[in-house]
Amino acid sequence: MLARVYTAALLGIDGFEVTVECSALKKLPALEIIGLPDTAVKEARERIRAATVNSGIRFPSLEMILNLAPANRKKEGSSFDLAMIVSVLCCGETVPADGLEDKCFIGELSLSGEVRAVDGVLCMCLAAKAKGRKEMFVPAANAPEASAVPDVKVYPVRDLLQLVKHLRGEELIAPLEFDRTVFEKGKKHFDVDFADVKGQFLPKRALEIAAAGGHNVLLIGPPGTGKSMLAKRFPTILPELSFDEAIETTKIHSIAGMLDGATQLIVNRPFRSPHHTMSAVSLVGGGTNPKPGEVSLSHNGVLFLDELPEYSRSVIETLRQPLEDGEVTITRAMAKVTYPANFSLIAAMNPCKCGYFSHPTKQCTCRPGEMRKYLSKISGPLLDRMDIQVEVGPVDYDALRESAKGAETSETVRRRVIEAREFARKRCEAGGTPVKQNSDLCASEIEKYCRMTDDASSLLRTAFDSLGMSARGYDRILKIARTVADLDKSEDIGPTHIATAISLRSLDKKYFNE
Ligand SMILES: Nc1ncnc2c1ncn2[C@@H]1O[C@H](COP(=O)(O)OP(=O)(O)OP(=O)(O)O)[C@@H](O)[C@H]1O
Ligand SMILES: [Mg+2]
Repeated sequence: MLARVYTAALLGIDGFEVTVECSALKKLPALEIIGLPDTAVKEARERIRAATVNSGIRFPSLEMILNLAPANRKKEGSSFDLAMIVSVLCCGETVPADGLEDKCFIGELSLSGEVRAVDGVLCMCLAAKAKGRKEMFVPAANAPEASAVPDVKVYPVRDLLQLVKHLRGEELIAPLEFDRTVFEKGKKHFDVDFADVKGQFLPKRALEIAAAGGHNVLLIGPPGTGKSMLAKRFPTILPELSFDEAIETTKIHSIAGMLDGATQLIVNRPFRSPHHTMSAVSLVGGGTNPKPGEVSLSHNGVLFLDELPEYSRSVIETLRQPLEDGEVTITRAMAKVTYPANFSLIAAMNPCKCGYFSHPTKQCTCRPGEMRKYLSKISGPLLDRMDIQVEVGPVDYDALRESAKGAETSETVRRRVIEAREFARKRCEAGGTPVKQNSDLCASEIEKYCRMTDDASSLLRTAFDSLGMSARGYDRILKIARTVADLDKSEDIGPTHIATAISLRSLDKKYFNE
């Protein structure tokens, strides 16, 4: 008897299908596992035997070989337990073989026969669906995330006995339906608003441009001027996630094991603000059992690094690859894994150690060496990757006394952001290129879409020569100007758009002497 059962494994953010074959040799009762299993998979032999016996099910007394295919890919973790036991029980004719080709089994078994949650179930179910599997048997705690996979039936499995009874047609498990109102129900209601921040018109405008075009922002200013306040309100002006973005975001959080057992789909943009003591691995991901880091957990959302120079320089330097490529690659012994990492970086910092350099009324008490040391935490290449650098100066008394009533709300700003993104989307579609944020435009797309008027072009030439801009700086100015023009719903980039873009990238001169 040869039983063939399907399951899936993870590689980066994607899954791949794994076939578990069980063959009986009819000699002495034994069970051997082959097909590049790691220790956790090898240990499954004992786990599945104990789980079966403790569930009151007879373990077949046959000599069996379990093969996990494809043999050239390493099988890690405990998520194959369920598929392995089903193939063993099918081999021993405890469960019927018919219909198994439609099914995918994912889950870890406890010694008592309980089915335990595993990481990455959403990704694995998507891979199984791509191979034509229609019924997903997953741990009950992972069923909500699996239910987001369209056009498949998801069966939440509590324990082995329940699964065996289902497969034998004795007592059927009710499939879990996806709740189509998840977007409305899960939508976050913010208790903070852009209108709370008084004054600060340029920083607010900078954040609006960043939200419309997906640009990164560095906020520099003395203490207590509203930098952290502004950054925390950035998510309130971002558009909602689309279904595809929500799936992608949920996949990453699923792999990281960060979904609670009730989440079907992450419907709000992530906002991550890791502490400055974090390591490079927790920022970009990795480890012996690789997990996505903060840059990937912020994918489709915001990564906020407050007090940027407090982070270790080697840690913030690792941001360079994800900022450039929108993904991170982790090299391992057997394979390379890549996680998406397309996030908006909002970083905030003081201009110097005491915080008052270039303050209009307060005296900076830093010694020149101290100031250089403080700013040197942010390297030139990293600074170059901060699209927008904006000064957040002190707010005057009159501005602070202003009533929040007249101030522009997050909802108003957000509407403009959505319209600008829509304007950009239509342009990409009409031009036959993939729809992306302006910050992600490649060289040929910049050439195609960032058309300047003659006046704008000569203004940029003058700025390029006088500011000693880098080629990357030039591209970034064009991309920001493209977003400013989108907010104006203008196809051509005019001189005011270029001027705004230049003003949002000129602080490096003032503070960093770059
Ligand atoms: N522009 C502003 N409008 C209204 N309140 C403000 C503003 N700026 C600062 N505040 C008040 O000051 C507090 C501190 O602001 P915030 O934490 O944003 O400062 P910061 O610029 O991040 O300072 P630091 O450099 O010390 O981190 C806020 O909680 C708020 O009460
Ligand atoms: Mg702050």
